[in-house]
Amino acid sequence: MSGCPYFQRRDLLKARPLQKDEEERDDSQDGINKATKGGIIYGDYLQLDKIVTAQVLQSEVKGNKIHDEHLFIVTHQAYELWFKQILWELDSVRQIFMNGHVRDERNMLKVTTRTHRIVMIFRLLVDQFAVLETMTALDFFDFREYLSPASGFQSLQFRLLENKIGVPDNLRVPYNRRHYRDNFKGQDSTVLLHSEQEPTLLQLVEKWLERTPGLEEGGFNFWGKLQVNIEEGLKREKEKIESKPPSGDKEEQMEEFIKQREVLSSLFDEKRHDHLMSKGERRLSYKALKGALMIYFYREEPRFQVPFQLLTSLMDIDTLMTKWRYNHVCMVHRMIGSKAGTGGSSGYHYLRSTVSDRYKVFVDLFNLATFLVPRDWVPKLNPTEHTFLFTADTCWDSSYCTSSGNSSSSSSEDSD
Ligand code: HEM
Repeated sequence: MSGCPYFQRRDLLKARPLQKDEEERDDSQDGINKATKGGIIYGDYLQLDKIVTAQVLQSEVKGNKIHDEHLFIVTHQAYELWFKQILWELDSVRQIFMNGHVRDERNMLKVTTRTHRIVMIFRLLVDQFAVLETMTALDFFDFREYLSPASGFQSLQFRLLENKIGVPDNLRVPYNRRHYRDNFKGQDSTVLLHSEQEPTLLQLVEKWLERTPGLEEGGFNFWGKLQVNIEEGLKREKEKIESKPPSGDKEEQMEEFIKQREVLSSLFDEKRHDHLMSKGERRLSYKALKGALMIYFYREEPRFQVPFQLLTSLMDIDTLMTKWRYNHVCMVHRMIGSKAGTGGSSGYHYLRSTVSDRYKVFVDLFNLATFLVPRDWVPKLNPTEHTFLFTADTCWDSSYCTSSGNSSSSSSEDSD
């Protein structure tokens, strides 16, 4: 620990108060210098007195605590701390979108970096169950009665996280015929209600996708061109199959082709899209879906590389949350079988029903892969005509660029 400024500082502070000349000497050393100015030491800075004394075991058997309850508490606390960090990042990303700072595309790097950070934290959270699984079902049984009726279902931060990402209220699995918010009272309930009313990450991303450059019918008209190309491509496919001599193989190919044609044609059916949206099966507006598909197809172009990374991270978040739910439910099954939960749900059966697409916020991004077509069907780019894919400086669409289009403008989101 000799290199750690906090520990050095603590030793000094414990030994005796600092003399003036010592403070001056300390100024030449970076780490210690900080401690001198703030006068803060490691334990105080991290408020460890609160954190390491917050493990209050409830169990009591013949005057002894049950050993594994300590692990149970620390694990939950670690999860809650990481939930807090995720919310911190999530709020900052949402704020950048809400402030309109993404119109300056340089801020997109901050958005993707922070979103990627959320992904990395979720990876950790998915794996972290393995530590708690070192506890056996019998060891858990020894202290379970002491924690009732506490339950993860009452985790405020977990619900905030779901709401802020965009899990809609009407798609939640009913829990004992009660609204999920009924489990929260007073201030917590108000905070949750607000989180339902604020713009979700999904809604903000949707608005951003709707502005994807290249969608305008009077401009590059990606959608119009794609439709023409797909129709021509399908026509060629059909002719190719029809030119083959009659055989079982030919029939199979034709059946396959008809299915494929239906799928691809449905992409251009806006009414069908709206219908699926009303059922909650699609979540992004039609225009946003077009933007997302455009980013998929042109992901290698300089201007779409960062947006593509963002879409990838959003899918990662959904995947990892699903994995979190899955690992959690597997652990619950192992610990309590099919007994009811301490929070009053059916336990394993309730949790199993949450491992579903109902809770996938960015489900449309996954489904886009259904509509991928051969590369030569994708509308061709003419670099001289369509410079928007190479640089944001052209600023042909004022709604997508900074107001001045000037690369030296200081539109920053640091107020987030
Ligand atoms: C022995 C370990 C665990 C058991 C037996 C267990 C059991 C349960 C059960 C039965 C439920 C359903 C609600 C109820 O009726 O109580 C639940 C929900 C929940 N638990 Fe756990 N849990 C465990 C560990 C954890 C850990 C480590 C976390 C981390 C924060 C956690 C977070 C949650 C959350 C957020 C919910 C709500 C899920 C939802 O409604 O979608 N649980 N848990």
